[in-house]
Amino acid sequence: MAGSWLVTGGAGFIGANFVHTLRSARPGDRVVVLDALTYAGHRGSLPPDDAAGLLRFVHGDICNAELVATLLREHAIDTIVHFAAESHVDRSVKEPGAFVQTNVVGTYTLLEAARRQWLGGAEAAAGGAPRRFHHVSTDEVYGSLGAEDPPFHEATAYAPNSPYAASKAAADHLVRAYHRTYGLPLTISNCSNNYGPYQFPEKLLPLVIVHALQGKPIPLYGDGRNVRDWMHVEDHVQGILAVIARGRVGESYNLGGNSERTNVELVTALCALIDARFAADPALAARFPQAPPARGASCASLIVRVQDRPGHDRRYAIDASKAARELGVEPQWSLERGLAATLDWYLDHEPWWRSVMDASYRDWIQQQYRL
Ligand code: NAD
Ligand code: TYD
Repeated sequence: MAGSWLVTGGAGFIGANFVHTLRSARPGDRVVVLDALTYAGHRGSLPPDDAAGLLRFVHGDICNAELVATLLREHAIDTIVHFAAESHVDRSVKEPGAFVQTNVVGTYTLLEAARRQWLGGAEAAAGGAPRRFHHVSTDEVYGSLGAEDPPFHEATAYAPNSPYAASKAAADHLVRAYHRTYGLPLTISNCSNNYGPYQFPEKLLPLVIVHALQGKPIPLYGDGRNVRDWMHVEDHVQGILAVIARGRVGESYNLGGNSERTNVELVTALCALIDARFAADPALAARFPQAPPARGASCASLIVRVQDRPGHDRRYAIDASKAARELGVEPQWSLERGLAATLDWYLDHEPWWRSVMDASYRDWIQQQYRL
C-alpha cells in the first residue's frame, strides 16, 4: 500500500538526502516536506513539486500547530520523519533561544499533533495503516568521551554539553515520554557526524572544501585533536529507513560510521585530496585560481589555529551494534571513499554552494572567525 510521509526539515542537508532516496525507493508514496527555509534550508536542494502531487513542498514552521494538524489530516500522513532543527553547535553558543524554540517546542508541537490525529477521535477508532513518528537525533546528547572510554551505546546516560545538544536531549526525552505515556508509535535514532552532498558550508567538512577552493583560511579549533566519528549521509538515510521498517517501537538506535578521526587528521586528509585533484586535472586551476594548488602550494597552508569552542566536546564515538544486530544495517561507505565522492560533488555543484553562501553566511563567518 502506498504510504504518505511528512518529512520535516527536508530542505536541509540530511532531510534533502533522505527525500531523494525515499522518492527513488518508494516512487508511489506521497512525500510532504515541511520546512521553514531558515538560513540552512534551501529549496534548490530538492526537486520541484511533481505534477502527480506525490512531492509537495510546504514552506512553514513546525511550531505552527494549526499548519501541522492540517497537513497530517489533509494528506492522511502515516509516517513522520522529523529532521527539522537548528543544528549548528557554534550558533547555539551564540543564540540558544532558537534552539529551544525549534528543537524543543517544535518537536513538542509535532508530537502533540500526531497524538491528536493518530490517537484521538474518529480516525483512531477506524484503525487504518500502521503509523510511525521517527525522531532524528544526535550522539551529542551523550556528552563527551575520554580517549580510552568505550563508545556511546543506547543505555549511556544523557549528559549534553552545548545548548544544541541539550535541546536535542530535551526533544528525545519528550519523544520517549509520548511513547510511554500515550503509546504514540515512536522511534529515535542517534547518529554521529554526517557528511556528503547538500551540507551547508558552516559545518567542518564542506567549510574546508569551499574555503580551500577560494583560498580562504581553514579554521581549526583549539589543538585540533578533538575526535568525531564520521558517517556518510547515505548510510544515515539507510539507517533511518531500516529503523522505520524494522525497528521496535519505543526504542532508540545508535547509528555510526566506524570512522573516528581527530579534526586535524580529517582536515589534512581532505586538503591532500584536493591537492591531488588539482594535480590530476589542470582545468581546476583555471576554475579556482585562488586555491593554493593552482599556484603549486598545498591547501594545508590555509589551516589556521583559532580559539577553541567553549565547552568543546573532546570525543564522540558510537557503538552501533544494536542497529547491526536487530536491523541488519551497517555503514557501507569508508571515510576515504566518502570524502572523495563528497569532494567530487562540491566540485560538480559549484552553483549550489555559491548560491547558499549569501550575505548572512558571510556575516556569520566574519563574526565567528574574525578572519
Ligand atoms: P540542517 O541545519 O542542514 O537542516 C535543518 C533544516 O530544518 C533546514 O532545512 C531548516 O530550514 C529546517 N528548519 C529549521 N527550523 C525549522 C522550523 N522551525 N520549522 C521547519 N523547518 C525548520 O540540519 P541537518 O544537518 O540536515 O540535520 C537534520 C537533523 O539531523 C537535525 O535534527 C540534527 O539534529 C540531526 N543530526 C544531524 C547530524 C549532522 O551531522 N548534521 C548528526 C546527527 C543528527
Ligand atoms: P561541526 O562540523 O561543527 O560538527 P559538531 O560540532 O556537531 O561535531 O564540527 C566538527 C568538529 O570540527 C568539531 O570538533 C569542531 C571542529 N571545527 C573546527 O575545528 N573548525 C571549524 O571551522 C568548524 C566549523 C568545526
